[in-house]
Amino acid sequence: MAKILCIDDEPLMRMTTRDYLMDMGHEVLEAASGAEGVAMFRRHRPDIVLSDLSMPSGDGFLVVTQLAEESPETPVVIISGTGTVDKAVKTLRMGAWDYLTKPLHDMNLLGQTVERVLKKAQERMAADQYHLRLESRTRELERELLDWTRSHQDTVQRLESALKRSINSFNIALREKDPYTAGHNERVASIAVDIGAAMGLGSKMQETLMLAGRLHDIGKIGVSEAILNKRGTLSAHEFEQIKTHVRGSYRILRSIPFDGPVAQVVLQHHERFDGTGYPEGLVGEAILLEARILAVADVYEALTSDRPYRAGLSPADAARHILTNAGTHFCPHCADAFGQYISKHQS
Ligand SMILES: [Fe+2]
Repeated sequence: MAKILCIDDEPLMRMTTRDYLMDMGHEVLEAASGAEGVAMFRRHRPDIVLSDLSMPSGDGFLVVTQLAEESPETPVVIISGTGTVDKAVKTLRMGAWDYLTKPLHDMNLLGQTVERVLKKAQERMAADQYHLRLESRTRELERELLDWTRSHQDTVQRLESALKRSINSFNIALREKDPYTAGHNERVASIAVDIGAAMGLGSKMQETLMLAGRLHDIGKIGVSEAILNKRGTLSAHEFEQIKTHVRGSYRILRSIPFDGPVAQVVLQHHERFDGTGYPEGLVGEAILLEARILAVADVYEALTSDRPYRAGLSPADAARHILTNAGTHFCPHCADAFGQYISKHQS
């Protein structure tokens, strides 16, 4: 049962209360003043305190104030013979849990009050412990989440770095076989990103353009060097061989987890806006926007480059070719943005 501290300056009142509560099975401590009561509380840590209000040498207000500060989880019940409603309200506001008036004609009322505040104190303690456990679990979860985020960031950084190394390796392999195409890929990537920026595309789409530009002709690794470096006109069969590079690029890239549709853009970079391109003959906006941009950058870069079998066109002539074929070979919006890119670069 509970340990109860009874503070009252009237010995008879203390005795009556003590006898009654001991009959209920509780352990009872006694103090004759507020000051003594507070000292006993500090020594014995009772489960509940019953205190008179008017006492010499430290009254009930002192008890309530001290305990509310030192041990707010300990219930204090004021039992007063001189109390008014104002005083009762005041003690409750100061932290008393309940208020009874003397004389206690029915001691059962005291017994019920003690039981009720004890139960309330236990419930509060259980709720406090629950909140403490909850807070501790929340902090644990926050730490776990932080660790997970850190390790996840590490993983993403490692993947990105592995991806960059793979792209470089692809280009090194391609450079050994076909130096022109490796340099061409890098230049196309840069032009495509500039056109995308002129169109106001976000960073994710620009990243796709950059990757697709760098990798769009990677499938030429699978085309014979004799055809790739042939001087003069290609036969129909040889041209068919060249055309296989788009599906070759796609096969190399399709299983890489890029953030955007890089493999798909690469697959479509020889599609034409009017449907006369390859490999699928897609028309208009059925072709991904990034692929339509890449097509412009690809042709412009190819036209302005010197090849062993022909000199490159001037930027102005190559740009004229792009703008003249807007709506047929090229997407008109992309050609428009390309026009802005060119005027900025030529001015
Ligand atoms: Fe190509």
